[in-house]
Amino acid sequence: MNDAIPPARAPLRARAPGKAILFGEHAVVFGRTAVVLALELGTEVAIDEGAPGGESTYNGSAEAARSNPYLQEALRSHSAGHALALNVRSDIPKASGLGSSAAFTAALMAGLLSLQGGSSRARLAEESFRTERGAQGVGSPVDTSAAVAGGVLTVGHQGLPGATALWSLPAVDGGPPWSVGRVPDPGWTWVVGYTGVPKDTATVVRRVGERVKRPDGERLLDEIAHVAVEGVEALRAKDRAAVGRAMKENQRLLVDLGISHPRLEELLASIDRYALGAKITGAGGGGSVVALPREGEEVLVGRAISHAGGVPFLVRVAPSGAALEA
Ligand code: PMV
Repeated sequence: MNDAIPPARAPLRARAPGKAILFGEHAVVFGRTAVVLALELGTEVAIDEGAPGGESTYNGSAEAARSNPYLQEALRSHSAGHALALNVRSDIPKASGLGSSAAFTAALMAGLLSLQGGSSRARLAEESFRTERGAQGVGSPVDTSAAVAGGVLTVGHQGLPGATALWSLPAVDGGPPWSVGRVPDPGWTWVVGYTGVPKDTATVVRRVGERVKRPDGERLLDEIAHVAVEGVEALRAKDRAAVGRAMKENQRLLVDLGISHPRLEELLASIDRYALGAKITGAGGGGSVVALPREGEEVLVGRAISHAGGVPFLVRVAPSGAALEA
């Protein structure tokens, strides 16, 4: 689960999971600690050598490779100038808040580092964060940590009580380092619902930056951080009702941060009867919701999301992060 990335030669395939943030999105950008679930939805990257002297390609297209900022950022530092032919398949809708870019980045980086002789998992985490951050310009290592480590994680400038420290990552902007910890997976089935409205993380993060400058901004971030601490306690105790309550409380605070969207509100309203808790997951302003159904009502939650026009996923936590495939 926490093993190294072995050396390999092309052709190879690597896969990494997507994610849903359970507590603390946005507050994590301001140094509070978030809780994230790696999900059994993933992205697979097949890497082969490209034509000698030619350009790298993405699903057969050099133009698609040129216009993919994550790929360009990764190739700049890790391809040693060789052309590569990449083929990518993903179960994660793009710009849905479910970690498609981090899963792509982590799977690609696992492949590139294995071509370069292998890597520790902590180094893979660091390189994946650096690459995603370089391409996006803003953000925390939450998504790439989930894609690299799998499981249920805490990510922030501080660990949380009840989480086991995994590794720390240097900040890319001169701030304090990030600490990544693991919380045991309670083993539940979660329901994620995509609105179909793509979100734009950088825009929403900047808007939240303005919101938290208001006099109650710090208090709002501290309240979100407090919910994450309570949420981790509830996860460790496998107390579904308490996890659901913490999700509802986090949702109230996210609405106050100004990141909701009418389609997110519609999906949340549609599942209220069947879920112990539900909230926006990720940047908001579109994207997805995550729900913890009452036990046995997973399908009802999924169906309600579908009737409300969303795309439901019934998902468990992916126990492992990015790995080469046989
Ligand atoms: O890009 P998304 O929707 O997965 O959002 C990431 C979560 C934020 O806290 C809003 C940003 C970040 O990098 O942590």
